[in-house]
Amino acid sequence: MSNNSSLVVVGAQWGDEGKGKVIDHLAVKADIVARFQGGNNAGHTVVYGANIFKLHHVPSGILNKDTLCLLGNGMVVNPLVLMEEMSELEKRGIDTSNLRISSKAHLILAYHEVLDEANEKMLGEKKIGTTGRGIGPAYADKALRRGIRAVELTDFSRFKKRLAEVLPLQNRFLQEIFDHPGYELEELAEKYRLAVEKLGPLVKDISLILNQGLAEKKRVLFEGAQGALLDIDHGTYPYVTSSSTVAAAAASGTGLGPQRLGQVLGVMKAYTTRVGEGPFPSEDVTEAGDQLRERGNEFGTTTGRPRRCGWFDAVIARYAAMINGLTGLALTKLDVLSGMEIVKIAVAYRCNGKEIRNFPSSIEELKLCEPVYETFPGWDEDISRVRSLDGFPTAAKDYIKALENSVGVKVDLLSVGPDRAQTIICPGSNLSNWFIEK
Ligand code: IMP
Repeated sequence: MSNNSSLVVVGAQWGDEGKGKVIDHLAVKADIVARFQGGNNAGHTVVYGANIFKLHHVPSGILNKDTLCLLGNGMVVNPLVLMEEMSELEKRGIDTSNLRISSKAHLILAYHEVLDEANEKMLGEKKIGTTGRGIGPAYADKALRRGIRAVELTDFSRFKKRLAEVLPLQNRFLQEIFDHPGYELEELAEKYRLAVEKLGPLVKDISLILNQGLAEKKRVLFEGAQGALLDIDHGTYPYVTSSSTVAAAAASGTGLGPQRLGQVLGVMKAYTTRVGEGPFPSEDVTEAGDQLRERGNEFGTTTGRPRRCGWFDAVIARYAAMINGLTGLALTKLDVLSGMEIVKIAVAYRCNGKEIRNFPSSIEELKLCEPVYETFPGWDEDISRVRSLDGFPTAAKDYIKALENSVGVKVDLLSVGPDRAQTIICPGSNLSNWFIEK
């Protein structure tokens, strides 16, 4: 491991790759876990013994009582949802006192959620299929310099003053374009009074905490949300989220220099899924796709929407490896493929009669792409209890090898079920150092 004390974990498909579980496993050795982008559009399901935790803002590291959990400046935070999430965790005996919010993170307020829904409605058939959590409007306000930052939560009168500055324009939008009554200042501000009280003390300079932590050789895990193909710059625009989801954003989204980032682990499912609209070349709308959805329980954590399912796409995986600088893969949900007669990998696309191996940057071109598959024999054995690479049936081992070859990056970690115990660190993996005692 080049930089033993930090590790970035990112989604390398269209989100929902199982990052929560992987991060939860790695967080056991982390002193600090930091999120750097997105908001409560993310949904991580973490299974810990008999407990199932659904996390939206809070990093999965919260389950380890000594881990400091940071919400970075690159995030958008819904104060009401965050409070609810914290109280849900506390009710179940999880201490949340180790959570800190960057003073520079932007807030998602009630009108952002309304605007998100209204924008989608206006787009009609061309809708993005957002999570409806107000993510796009909150980032738009940040870019338009009319956002409200978490630092305003440190004092109610300060929060209200800033709200008074931005609300008239928001109301004009809501009333004149979207036929919404708008919000009354007093009433809206009061809605957030408790959030100011509860969250205000957690608002800190995250950049300082992280830089000091790294100087003291603390181990830092950066927790990505969504996935490479949903990145605002590199994803399937406009069918993307509104933040930078790639590894480099871990630096700008927390206030660190890029040289402080260490290994970059890309989480990929052994097949592919997508929620929301937009092109998806290896989508399988036949029985095989339905089988993947049922066996993999592919329904959104945040919205409950059924996920679109298809085969592993090595074209997007190679692209994700390139734009993130992946040093290793975490391959999840391999167990879901047990019982499939054959398994397929899209190794290239055919587009306008030509075979292409690189991911097209135009979605119009992407829409015309047909996957070129390599097909492999499946396996029947239940692999969810296997705890070492040797224990896999030959067909599963061959599939992993073929996948590594088609992506050009080695698998460091394998996941064969939702529980922490159902995780295998591959021999010679870059991650072995992460688990070494300091
Ligand atoms: P937004 O992030 O809510 O604006 O949604 C934009 C697109 O990103 C939609 O296609 C969503 O389904 C997708 N998206 C956002 N968050 C996630 C996630 O955590 N997993 C998978 N897809 C997501």
